[in-house]
Amino acid sequence: MQDKYIAAMLLSGVGDALGFYGGTWEFDYSGVNIHVQLKSKFNGVKNIKVALPKWPVSDDTVLHLATAEALMSGKACSEDLFLEIVNHYVRGASDMNGRSSGFTTMSNIQSLASSKGYVVPFNKRGGGCGAAMRSMCIGLRYPTPQQLPDLIAVAVESGRMTHNCPTGYLGSVASAYFTSLAIQGKPVESWGFELMQLLPKVKEYIKSVNRDVKQNEENWDYFSTQWMKYLEIRNITDGKSPPKFPEKYGIEERDKFYNSVSFGGWGGASGHDAPMIAYDALLAAGSSWEKFCDHGVFHGGDNDSTGAIGCSWWGALYGLEGVPKCNYEKLEYRERLENAGKKLFELCQ
Ligand SMILES: *[C@@H]1O[C@H](CO)[C@@H](O)[C@H](O)[C@H]1NC(C)=O
Ligand SMILES: *[C@@H]1O[C@H](CO)[C@@H](O)[C@H](O)[C@H]1NC(C)=O
Ligand SMILES: [Mg+2]
Repeated sequence: MQDKYIAAMLLSGVGDALGFYGGTWEFDYSGVNIHVQLKSKFNGVKNIKVALPKWPVSDDTVLHLATAEALMSGKACSEDLFLEIVNHYVRGASDMNGRSSGFTTMSNIQSLASSKGYVVPFNKRGGGCGAAMRSMCIGLRYPTPQQLPDLIAVAVESGRMTHNCPTGYLGSVASAYFTSLAIQGKPVESWGFELMQLLPKVKEYIKSVNRDVKQNEENWDYFSTQWMKYLEIRNITDGKSPPKFPEKYGIEERDKFYNSVSFGGWGGASGHDAPMIAYDALLAAGSSWEKFCDHGVFHGGDNDSTGAIGCSWWGALYGLEGVPKCNYEKLEYRERLENAGKKLFELCQ
């Protein structure tokens, strides 16, 4: 199990670095183009040596590490822990050179740094994937059903520190929750159903904190509506049926589909669709690392974020089994990531 914890942290960084590709924007927004180039340059993901300077980690990993290192303090779920998370986000924000950080995230971290609190104003437009991309480790810290209230509280509060809109922080909840389900060994095809069961509990939490309740309720449904639609398309609303994929689901079809579930035409850029695309890739790939990367990382959308999220779940399920060493051996922040995995594992013993 400790290996799975380490893999969940480490591979998250790998997925981020692979998608980010140093922010080159070389292959535009086309998955087809990305795959052609990957084949001709590297002959597949198995030959990519993920290392500096070409393959740095991006903002996703810096802030995922920030969340993890705050949790490693061992503090109980409380305001004290939330302030610890803020401190780590502030520190992470100074490590964003060449990492393409998001505007919503950075401006809110800045205002948290000056307010010395952990609350920012409600923001109807805070539905980006910035909260979802950094919360997988919360599921490692609170992996059991008994710890679900803590998982919800920490995923919501850390998420709405920058993305104070349900679409944004529910993405954080999904990333954290799916990691915990991976650790529990729950079948992947049941996760979507489980998430739908969880949402009313998250709403109860929002009400219990009694902050911006009306605005949260008014903006609540987008996330669940999009997810229900997706689960219906894959025929997995009952959490038991095997997922149904189109007969032809190649690179082009996937790009089109990812686009169709997105908010603004860029698949994976929002709180609802970053975990959704990562989940779709996981359902399709099973235990194949290469297939997971093809579906979940090498597409023409927000590929570093779907990569960071999905590769983390993949690692929590399968460890490092079948992952070529060159993909992670020289990864930037490898030691910090591995150490976080170890420490979070110790904390739940
Ligand atoms: C990830 O997507 C961006 C934007 O579409 C693209 O520029 C980048 O090359 C993609 N990553 C890889 C490894 O091709
Ligand atoms: C969807 O799932 C149900 C329940 O398992 C099954 O009976 C049905 O055949 C599935 N539909 C398709 C189109 O696969
Ligand atoms: Mg990024």
